[in-house]
Amino acid sequence: MSEHLYNKYVKNMTLEEKIAQLLQLAAPFYDEPGDDSEITGPMEELGIGNDTKRAAGSVLGIAGAEKMMAVQKEHLASNRLGIPLLFMADIVHGFKTIFPIPLAIGCSWNPELAELSAEIAAREAAVSGLHVTFAPMVDLVRDGRWGRVMESTGEDTYLNSVFAKAFVQGFQGDDLENDMTRVAACVKHFAAYGLAEGGRDYNTVDLSERQLREYYLPAYKAAVDAGVEMVMTSFNIVDGIPATGNRRLMRGLLRDEWGFDGVVISDWAAIKEMIAHGAAEDDKEAAFKAIYSGVDIDMMTTSYVKHLPELVKEGLVDEALIDEAVLRILKLKEKLGLFENPMRGADPELEKKIVYSDEHRQVSRKLAEKSSVLLKNEGVLPLQANQRVALIGPFADSGDILGWWSWQGSKETAVKLGASMQVLSASPDHVVIAEGSGIHTISESQKAEAIKAAADADVIVLAVGEASEMSGEGGSRSDIRLPQAQLELIRVMKELGKPLAVVLFNGRPLDLHGVYDVADAVLEAWFPGSEGGAALADLLYGKVNPSGRLSMSFPYSVGQIPVYYNAYNTGRPKPEEETDNRYISQYIDIPNEPLLPFGFGLSYTTFAYEGLSLSSEVMAADRPLEVKVTVTNTGNMAGTETVQLYIRDISGEVVRPVKELKDFRQVGLAPGESKEVVFRIEETQLRYHHSDLSFTSDPGRFTVYVGASSREVQKAGFRLA
Ligand code: GLC
Repeated sequence: MSEHLYNKYVKNMTLEEKIAQLLQLAAPFYDEPGDDSEITGPMEELGIGNDTKRAAGSVLGIAGAEKMMAVQKEHLASNRLGIPLLFMADIVHGFKTIFPIPLAIGCSWNPELAELSAEIAAREAAVSGLHVTFAPMVDLVRDGRWGRVMESTGEDTYLNSVFAKAFVQGFQGDDLENDMTRVAACVKHFAAYGLAEGGRDYNTVDLSERQLREYYLPAYKAAVDAGVEMVMTSFNIVDGIPATGNRRLMRGLLRDEWGFDGVVISDWAAIKEMIAHGAAEDDKEAAFKAIYSGVDIDMMTTSYVKHLPELVKEGLVDEALIDEAVLRILKLKEKLGLFENPMRGADPELEKKIVYSDEHRQVSRKLAEKSSVLLKNEGVLPLQANQRVALIGPFADSGDILGWWSWQGSKETAVKLGASMQVLSASPDHVVIAEGSGIHTISESQKAEAIKAAADADVIVLAVGEASEMSGEGGSRSDIRLPQAQLELIRVMKELGKPLAVVLFNGRPLDLHGVYDVADAVLEAWFPGSEGGAALADLLYGKVNPSGRLSMSFPYSVGQIPVYYNAYNTGRPKPEEETDNRYISQYIDIPNEPLLPFGFGLSYTTFAYEGLSLSSEVMAADRPLEVKVTVTNTGNMAGTETVQLYIRDISGEVVRPVKELKDFRQVGLAPGESKEVVFRIEETQLRYHHSDLSFTSDPGRFTVYVGASSREVQKAGFRLA
């Protein structure tokens, strides 16, 4: 494939044309196709002229079949060799049909539905002219202060890897060249961006290579193994060197060790930002380090365009490196069929039919139902249709339920909670709605209105949370409680002495002080997407039984962070039983345990686990161990249980976590129904990175844990021979 492209294009390109293929411009550069007037604004700021624009390789953030076709047509008319543009954008959890945020999807523990959501996102994006999505984001996150936690699927390496594979498969399908309804995926942010110190976005990341390989890299590797076409560099340093200029990480590990030969794109301006990092004297050195690290596309700066020509002329950069980068980009364009069909799947007529279609929205609704997590319920939920409900709070009637990265989504037409509840209640006036407070403010009149709305209510439902811009990129928070105004609203409502349920709309695990301790029921809705209100009403009225399980711990308070289930035991673990021994690993003012653990979630029914058994107490490396358990629905409502399998390696060459998720099964059970769940443990699942980075298992003792969460488990032991 490369020979053909080299001979047809690269060999005939000037050095400037080759380098322009490595440039990605944003949408404003293409706002008026055909406008040949002196370029001003962003182009001028970037210091590039029309010739460079005509030879550019890709564009970020243009969508809409008509617009894309006009820009592509104009570009082809002016590009000397007729090389088409690649159109890319952030389609992270939906295009116009917005799905729950990825952190919510992680709580569905449903990779099949996650894959379908990516397939639908790709379908809508492709018909609107897009070729590449900057997703999935698979950064492991253990710190809810970081705003981009909403974009991840949570704190567990294995679960993130399962979702990484599912998203890539959904976006790309099996035949990207011929399946015009798919887009190329771009796994990000390589690597370990989620470990930003203090949860502060873009902050320093520092970890051992062993930690990197053991916990942070597997999900990216799962995406690469799933055939992801592109990798995006992360803003942070890895072992002291910005990822975007980190040759050992990008060439040594990603390309040489993993064999990734796709396109690597920098994150926005990340090449130039090496200067600010203090890793490059100037833009020229930044360009040098990036091209030597195998970064093919310079997103939105002119580091490459301005400095690669001189670096080549000075003999500091071999033109072969440029050719290599150009070829990877041309190979992707060819794989997408763009040379034969530069408009690919763009279709203005079809766009009108399938984008935001009811079929797509119903999938979003189903995923929202499965992604919500019932965190507490003391006899309040589900609501009865004939109950008089006061729905109070800034999210009672809000369209701000799409979350960050919902670029093409419509808050205006998102299905709101209040109207949806009124449909399911005995009559619309069984649900009285009052805002009660803003996101950050509350007035006496709002309080009075809320108290009035609740006067005749049998139950109060509070719809509270974070505005979508309080998480997402650049949205780190040091205090992860609900805003004080909303805590005040909850206090005022609690004083009425009526049953109180809280529905949370948020982009991170919150510090639930003033919420969890006050409410009788708490339903975590996250940002549930375009059909969020309808899904939540179904859950609140019991049309659907909640089945979500936390893919990230909820801390007792921000002071506990980072808190995660697969921690090390330490030499002085805090015992289960009370102790007055001071000299143990503890806080003197809060518990060690998170408020709500990884894997936790309630149902309107109950489940019992019995008969945990292993096929043997000794496991041979070549003979998998079978683990069996019987799960029974002991309640009076059908429900879905996520049976989780964890393993603890009691002693290793390096210390091993107190437990690690290795598998899970979702089982649907009718009231009274039992099912036997069988897991197989393979020796490969017991391997880990040793101090010399060798990845092997050790003979020795292991504990198997099976249960409903990382905290609620039954256990059995075995030995690996
Ligand atoms: C942003 C984000 C990245 C996104 C890119 C393009 O800064 O870090 O995730 O894909 O720029 O919007």
